[in-house]
Formats: sequence, C-alpha cells, structure tokens
Amino acid sequence: MISPDSDLSPHRPVMLDEVISFIKPGKGDIIVDATIGAGGHSSEILKRIGPEGLLIGIDKDEEILKIANKYLSRISDSYKLYQADNVELDYILNKLKIKKVNGILLDLGVSSLQLDSFDRGFSFSKEGPLDMRMDRTQGMTAEDLLKRLSEKDMADVFWRYGEERRSRRVARAIVQERKRGVDIKTTTQLAKIVERALYVPGKYQKKRKIHPATRVFQAIRIVVNEELKSLEGFLGDICEFLANGSRIVVISFHSLEDRLVKSAFREGQNRSRLAILTKKPLVPLDSEIRENVRSRSAKLRAAERT
Ligand SMILES: C[S@@+](CC[C@H](N)C(=O)[O-])C[C@H]1O[C@@H](n2cnc3c(N)ncnc32)[C@H](O)[C@@H]1O
Repeated sequence: MISPDSDLSPHRPVMLDEVISFIKPGKGDIIVDATIGAGGHSSEILKRIGPEGLLIGIDKDEEILKIANKYLSRISDSYKLYQADNVELDYILNKLKIKKVNGILLDLGVSSLQLDSFDRGFSFSKEGPLDMRMDRTQGMTAEDLLKRLSEKDMADVFWRYGEERRSRRVARAIVQERKRGVDIKTTTQLAKIVERALYVPGKYQKKRKIHPATRVFQAIRIVVNEELKSLEGFLGDICEFLANGSRIVVISFHSLEDRLVKSAFREGQNRSRLAILTKKPLVPLDSEIRENVRSRSAKLRAAERT
C-alpha cells in the first residue's frame, strides 16, 4: 500500500521546468493534470494559478490521490481531485460546468511511489503480488491475465506492448509452468521465469541495459490498465477542451505511447486545430537523468490549440 505518510514528493517531477514553460500557468487559469500522481508537477502549477485559478487533478489510483491531496493542501485549496480514468475528462468538466481549460498535462505511466510499493506488483526488484492495477477497484489483475491468455495471445501481448523480440519463448515458458500446476502469483516468480526463458549461455550472452523481465512487465501493465486505449481516447478529445492559445504537454516513457502522441498532434495540425511546438520530442538533460534515473526514457511533446 502507498502510505499517505509516504515521503512526499520523493523526486523532482520529470522535466518540471519544461512542463511549466510550455503550459505557462498564470493567475486565474484552469489547468487539468490528467495523471496527477503525487502532485509533483501540480504543486508548481497550483502555486502559479493562485486562489482565483482551478487545478483539476485526475488519477486512477485512489491511494496516490490521498498523497496528492495531502501535498497540495499545503499550498492552497484551489484544486479538485477525481479518481477516474482520464478518458472521462468530458464528464468531469461537464459536472463542473467548465467548457474550456487553459492547459492540460499528461505525465504517463506509473509513479515512483507506485513502483516502490511492492504490494502493488509493478516492480520485480522485490517480492510482491502480481497485481499491477492502477485502479484497484477494477477486476483483472496481472495474475488473472496470465492465467487467462493462451500461449499465442500471450506472445502477441509481449511482442506488441513490450516489443519483446523473443516473446514466444517467454510465453512458452509461462504456459509450461501453468501446465506443471504452478500458480504464478508473485512478481519475482514471474521475473525468474522470464529470466530463465531468455537466458543465453556463455559468450552469446549480450550485455543488456535493462533487466530481461522489463519488457514483459511493461506489456502486462499496459494491458491490465488498458493504457494505450485510454491514451488514444483522451488524445482524440483534447481539442474540444483546450481554449484557443492554450497548450497540451505529454510526457511519455516508451515508443508505443510516443507514437500515439505524435500522430494525434499531427492529425490536430492537419485539421488546423493544433500547432505542434516540439518538432522532435524533448528529452531530459543529463543532469536530470543523473539525479533521477527513471527520467531517462522520458519524451516530452507539446502542442498549442489554434
Ligand atoms: C508518472 S505518474 C505522474 C506523476 C506526477 N506528474 C507527479 O509529478 O507526481 C502517472 C500517474 O498517472 C496515473 N495514470 C496513468 N494512466 C492513467 C489514466 N488513464 N487515467 C488516470 N490516471 C492515470 C497513474 O496512476 C500514476 O499515478
């Protein structure tokens, strides 16, 4: 569990200066942080919009929203938090009778707090249940998914969402374990199966930059949380909500997300509704990566409503 007493804001939020300089939150603005997490970016936004502004924070994760609330309440009360999938932004804005906002931020993926709470099952660096749900009220866990998928579908998932080249080998190993009557229930259990399946002996072993289970864990997490479906739905609607001249910033952490963002911005530009502000995605400075190694794969894209 993520304790509400967790060390607040353990890291500087990813690419904070860049986010603020694109969104340019000003006094009285209404800004949506559609993946608010612990409120790292949002706390800076809240300071800038002042008491006359409104910050709307959305997250699927109830536990992390409690932390965001604790953190933001120290700054001001000009915010509202919603436990929801951000694809529901239109309902939320309708409820608030708000038609247009002055900026939108999406900082995708999981937060450090979720990764470091081993009982949430996002990380394999310590034993935890194979859960991986951002919204714990939702049905299917990672364990359920691995029980349900056929070998072929599992290989497809690892290939498509993890870009794991040896996806079939991993799927075969998991299904073999299932056939032997083994219940795959924990993160370290799964990581060991993947590691064994991808093991290449001796001199043929390539030096990998990442743990062999990283891609498989990414793929499972994406499917459990329907991450790409949400992102596509969200990006499809943004032009409706952005006031003219206001901006959207998206930070993504893998190529599948970045591709969706790039193509949604292009489509917006082709329809003369968006102007792309980042021809190529921005990446964190070396100094930021040294301070926070998890920022190393971040890519930031920004666009302005025209
Ligand atoms: C990288 S963290 C955000 C960190 C935040 N910017 C900060 O500075 O603290 C991403 C957050 O987005 C949430 N999330 C991911 N996809 C979501 C979705 N489709 N709808 C709502 N929340 C989502 C996750 O639960 C997680 O808390």
